[in-house]
Amino acid sequence: MKRLGQKGNHNHIHRSMMKYAYEEPKQALSARIQAHQQYSNFSLHDWLKGSFELMPGHRVFDLGCGDGNYTRLFWDQIQPSGFYLGLDKNIDLINEAKNRFSDLPKDQVQFVVHDFDTPLPYGYDSFDWVFAIYSLYYAKDSLRLIYDIREKMTAKGCFVVIGPGPDNIKDLWAFNYRLIGEKGERERVQRIAGEFIISFEQFFPKKNIHYEEINSEMRFPTAEAFAEYYWSTLLWRESVRDKSSQEIDQYKLETLKRAEYIMGLRIKKQISVLIGKKG
Ligand SMILES: C[S@@+](CC[C@H](N)C(=O)[O-])C[C@H]1O[C@@H](n2cnc3c(N)ncnc32)[C@H](O)[C@@H]1O
Repeated sequence: MKRLGQKGNHNHIHRSMMKYAYEEPKQALSARIQAHQQYSNFSLHDWLKGSFELMPGHRVFDLGCGDGNYTRLFWDQIQPSGFYLGLDKNIDLINEAKNRFSDLPKDQVQFVVHDFDTPLPYGYDSFDWVFAIYSLYYAKDSLRLIYDIREKMTAKGCFVVIGPGPDNIKDLWAFNYRLIGEKGERERVQRIAGEFIISFEQFFPKKNIHYEEINSEMRFPTAEAFAEYYWSTLLWRESVRDKSSQEIDQYKLETLKRAEYIMGLRIKKQISVLIGKKG
């Protein structure tokens, strides 16, 4: 457990907040989800299931739900009388989620296309749980969004923010720098441990705020499996954004060559978890 509210600097945050936004390609998201299922020694699904007491009848808001990676997990715990709302700005991912869960009751499991950088949709409130899993650190203005979310929670509601920790994939970052020479954007991964804790302190009683970091590892069986994961990350996409296709092909060849002897086919992951309870 860390001491809360030590890091972070709001002036700096406001200058740089525009660059946090991003678009998630559907293929890249499913490649990363699959890689985690196959090669990680940590299951976020199991951890979520064991850590929060969702009960039948509860109302859950899944902010930045993507293609519904956690929909079934939440619904299984709150059914048959609960309510689940998944929100994401990406219409392809929301359509995918709607297809995947077309068997669930439509009035109780809903998905909306919405950009959380604009005020949250009217008419959905009284949530017992709000989960933002690998999504909130893309928000342009976290203060506004956290305020907006808090308004939509019950008096005893709980807001859970999960995302990369400050040391997440540091080894892959170094690998990427040696390979491509691009430093990459590391500010996003500092946001939960810094900016968001400070923001939470404005909206939740200090005694109701909890922060922790979970370390885990991905071990890949082959250079190809390692490379597939690396090429599906935002780090790779942002690093090769301005490169020619010949350069990208060259980096891909080099990735496969170096994966084993530089990375040992392993990547160290770190998750930040920030929890705020209203009452
Ligand atoms: C890394 S994915 C995580 C998806 C899902 N929560 C999971 O863990 O599998 C991040 C998601 O946040 C969504 N997102 C990013 N910025 C957003 C915004 N401004 N408004 C709504 N959704 C956003 C993306 O479209 C993407 O689906």
